[in-house]
Amino acid sequence: MTQTQEKQKRAVAQAAIQHVSIGNVVGVGTGSTANYFIDELAKIKHKIEGAVASSENTAQRLREHHIEVLDLNSVGELPVYIDGADEITEHLHMIKGGGGALTREKIVAATAKKFVCVADHSKLVGVLGTFPIPVEVIPMARSYVAREIVRLGGHPVLRQGFITDNGNVILDIHGLQILNPVELETNLNQITGIVTNGLFARRGANVLLLGTDNGIRMIEI
Ligand code: A5P
Repeated sequence: MTQTQEKQKRAVAQAAIQHVSIGNVVGVGTGSTANYFIDELAKIKHKIEGAVASSENTAQRLREHHIEVLDLNSVGELPVYIDGADEITEHLHMIKGGGGALTREKIVAATAKKFVCVADHSKLVGVLGTFPIPVEVIPMARSYVAREIVRLGGHPVLRQGFITDNGNVILDIHGLQILNPVELETNLNQITGIVTNGLFARRGANVLLLGTDNGIRMIEI
């Protein structure tokens, strides 16, 4: 990772603080950009009620900063969810799950009124799919799911030595042309044994804070 990328991640993490709803619970994503956001959130922790974490790693980092981690079942709709992405388009469709936290990320995103994506410039793409689409799979369905993905034209690769926070495995799908992300997300959801796929198109982001060499570019839908 270049120094520029790190600078951009830090800058968008700082900018995301503006989107936090004071006095409320904030949804927090997973990954290196989300980690920078947690560091920023710590500075205003007395102004929020707490946070809902999208992974065990995020929960741990929040606790290290003495930010209260709340159970999603004990809070209602979240005003905002802040998270990174592996790829994002100008339509704010994303591929996520490079860190393997896609299922909890999708759940927390689903409960949020606003999804703010924070990303460095390298994440913006014209068409999704250079980054392989992660899918979380129930272990006993791994071979069946892999065959079904091949039927769709993809090349599934088991993420070696990785178990999700939910006790499942990840298949990374290479080589799929993603011309219609909403349709593909829906079709992958139909394969029995897939818990979640890493396309975030049906519920994309509402706001993108993109780090660039010339400052932060904001795209809002
Ligand atoms: C975690 O499972 C992912 O969805 C992350 O949000 C994504 O990989 C972005 O991570 P970085 O901020 O580290 O690039």
